[in-house]
Amino acid sequence: MLEEEYQPRRVLPHHLRKPVKPEAPFSYSIRDAVPEDLPGIREIYNYYVTNSTVTFDDKPSTLAFWRKKYESIRKAGMPFLVAESPSGQILGYTLVSPWSAKAGYRYTVENSIYLGPAATGKGLGGPLLTALLDRAREAGIREIIAVIADQGADASVKMHERLGFTEVGRMGKVGFKFDRWLGTITMQKSLRGKK
Ligand SMILES: CC(C)(COP(=O)(O)OP(=O)(O)OC[C@H]1O[C@@H](n2cnc3c(N)ncnc32)[C@H](O)[C@@H]1OP(=O)(O)O)[C@@H](O)C(=O)NCCC(=O)NCCS
Repeated sequence: MLEEEYQPRRVLPHHLRKPVKPEAPFSYSIRDAVPEDLPGIREIYNYYVTNSTVTFDDKPSTLAFWRKKYESIRKAGMPFLVAESPSGQILGYTLVSPWSAKAGYRYTVENSIYLGPAATGKGLGGPLLTALLDRAREAGIREIIAVIADQGADASVKMHERLGFTEVGRMGKVGFKFDRWLGTITMQKSLRGKK
């Protein structure tokens, strides 16, 4: 196009412009997981298996694995929660599993929390984990433990600290993923008495 042919694009006056839809605010509800949620939960977890060191698993989990996990948590009367978008999409999940199968550890659990990548950094992690802590306390749990990778999980460490977990130990080079050695940070919170 020759320079003299160039016509600057006309800007439509305000009243003729298409209204720009404002971005919907980030909203969610938290509820107990049901079996229909398991494919969405599996998809979220497998994203981190494949793309991150926040979990040391390196093979994508199966639906059978999630069905078994769901059943054992349900039978134990322990919490397994999801955060759901208004359109019904699973945004994230959190659950507890026994810290050890030995009977003396029955009041202690390990927690796990994963948000879909698009739902991170928006402040959902705190309320979802808070809901899990409340439900674990109601279920009679006294101590809750988070084992967090020492690389690439800074948001998780911060969130656990904010909710009252304190670091109780570190282990170096106990994991190996993506051709490098990784350690863990163990954080603990007591659920005895008041929040
Ligand atoms: C960890 C996770 C649950 C946190 O939930 P979230 O809603 O994203 O967290 P928030 O937006 O509330 O951020 C938590 C804190 O971490 C900080 N943060 C967020 N991303 C960060 C990053 N990449 N590096 C350092 N700090 C970060 C935030 O500023 C916030 O700090 P504040 O409490 O001082 O405000 C979520 O990010 C997630 O699912 N991550 C991937 C999976 C994972 O790591 N799971 C935990 C395995 S142990």
